[in-house]
Amino acid sequence: MLAGLNAPHKSIPTWLLYDARGMELFEAICQTDEYYLTRTELSILRENIQEMADLIGPETLLIEYGSGTGQKTQLLLDHLKEPVAYIPIEISREALRQATKELCERYPTLPVLPVCADYTSHYELPELPFEPARRAVFFPGSTIGNFEPEEAKNFMSHIAEAVGKGGSVLVGVDLHKDAETLEKAYDDAAGITAEFELNALEHINREFDANFRRDRFEYRSFYNRELQRIEMYLVSRERQNVRVDRTEIEFAEGEHILTEYSQKFTIEGFRSFAAEAGFSVGRVWLDDRSLFSVQYLERA
Ligand code: AVI
Repeated sequence: MLAGLNAPHKSIPTWLLYDARGMELFEAICQTDEYYLTRTELSILRENIQEMADLIGPETLLIEYGSGTGQKTQLLLDHLKEPVAYIPIEISREALRQATKELCERYPTLPVLPVCADYTSHYELPELPFEPARRAVFFPGSTIGNFEPEEAKNFMSHIAEAVGKGGSVLVGVDLHKDAETLEKAYDDAAGITAEFELNALEHINREFDANFRRDRFEYRSFYNRELQRIEMYLVSRERQNVRVDRTEIEFAEGEHILTEYSQKFTIEGFRSFAAEAGFSVGRVWLDDRSLFSVQYLERA
């Protein structure tokens, strides 16, 4: 259990984890033995992609939130029938530029309309000169688990609006499982996850003229079984003052900064979560150990 959990805590928004170094470190996390999510999701996608694409249907406008490096996107676009356009929404300008370039080369006739934005806050979708037959959202990676519960509900309702009537969502959802597997996935032996989380302090230093010293914090995480989520923290090793944007912030020893939640779901739990936002679950694909799921949702 996390020492000092009862001490007061502060939190940071998720985007602070994803500067260029954070993106690199996250890619490295995805390659670790412990972080089963990426490779498991990819194997589910590879095995079932044709069925997924058939369910989404022809002449679809595909919207992707947090499109990243685009490997999973290509898999889907390779199998979709006559997609009419693709809108990737991604906060990292460099990742978006690179992925857009690759997609334009690979699919020269597909209009790619990139949006560089933090999709958790306000952004506008580009207007299309025609009404597509249907809209679908691709949201892999189980990023839905990184929202606070209330935000996750709002985000799903927002997706429901974006896809409109007859629209659908293909979403990656990580599943509740034994705490040991989960805790290793979020605290790998090589320390890459710790490095990724601590890197957020460097990002804050640059963004907000702050003076965090990363050696004065340590990374800790645990699986909260009751709430079914991994909780990730940076814990102050000592009593200290940090300046952020000309304000002095005091940290007690053991006081922690919440950096992320990673919610895990049961199949039933996700079904009711989706239903609250107006989606019914049309199909669920699992790996053979039921570690991870990819789910097809239809707007009810
Ligand atoms: C991006 N997201 C789905 C990751 C997760 O598994 O919650 C973020 C992450 N943070 C540390 N490891 C992975």
